[in-house]
Amino acid sequence: MRLRKNAKVAYLRAIPLFGHCSKRELEQVAGITTEIAAAEGSTLIEQGAAAREFFVLIDGSVEVRRNGRRIAVLGSGDFFGEMALLTNTPRNATVRATAPSRVLVIVDRDFHRLLTETPSIAVKVLRALAERLPPTAF
Ligand code: CMP
Repeated sequence: MRLRKNAKVAYLRAIPLFGHCSKRELEQVAGITTEIAAAEGSTLIEQGAAAREFFVLIDGSVEVRRNGRRIAVLGSGDFFGEMALLTNTPRNATVRATAPSRVLVIVDRDFHRLLTETPSIAVKVLRALAERLPPTAF
């Protein structure tokens, strides 16, 4: 089932990443997001691949694996795919749905514009980026 724009705005408002956005900002975010359904077991991001999208998990569950080892499990409201877009490097992990999931997708150009225009989102993405830095970064 596709989310209509109003329903999308309601979902977005409940997602911590967008928690400080005004109604107008949420409408802009809704306008640049595409909702996809990810079947259990499907791969959303492949380690080593080029990056074009940022993802926000509406509901469901994904696991993050680096070199085959599980390093994180993400759930409703979490986001992923920001690292390669921000650092202009290949994907540093594989992200796979571990349950039927609904995901919002934002393409790279819109993601960068979103960060530039909405500092509250940029700060949250920055924080996650710092927390998720791979050990090889040190
Ligand atoms: P990216 O490198 O674009 O693609 C793989 C994604 O996995 C990465 O962005 C992050 O969003 C996510 N990721 C990588 N490491 C972690 C981690 N330690 N905890 C949570 N998510 C991670």
